[in-house]
Amino acid sequence: SENWIDICATDELPDDDVKGVQAQGRDIALYHVEGEIFATDGVCSHGHARLCDGYLEGHEIECPLHQGRFDVRNGKAMCAPLTTDIRIYPVKKDNGRVLVQMG
Ligand code: FES
Repeated sequence: SENWIDICATDELPDDDVKGVQAQGRDIALYHVEGEIFATDGVCSHGHARLCDGYLEGHEIECPLHQGRFDVRNGKAMCAPLTTDIRIYPVKKDNGRVLVQMG
């Protein structure tokens, strides 16, 4: 099935900010950049750090532990020490709610 999960209200996500949430037992990070919302795995692919504790600059999230950066649009690892991309999830807005497709 499509498996869209209602996560939160759109106004719980301030622009240029990252929020950590749980969905179906998984740690997810939501980002609000220039009016668009993106979702990735919430934990860094390099070590056990939560990306919601990191620093969002434009479309890049910087991990709080060793400052690796991912592009939140496609999950790409942008610099050392990262060697592995992170998973992304489709997002849609519906009636003021944010839904994420967990697949
Ligand atoms: Fe994220 Fe090392 S744990 S860069």
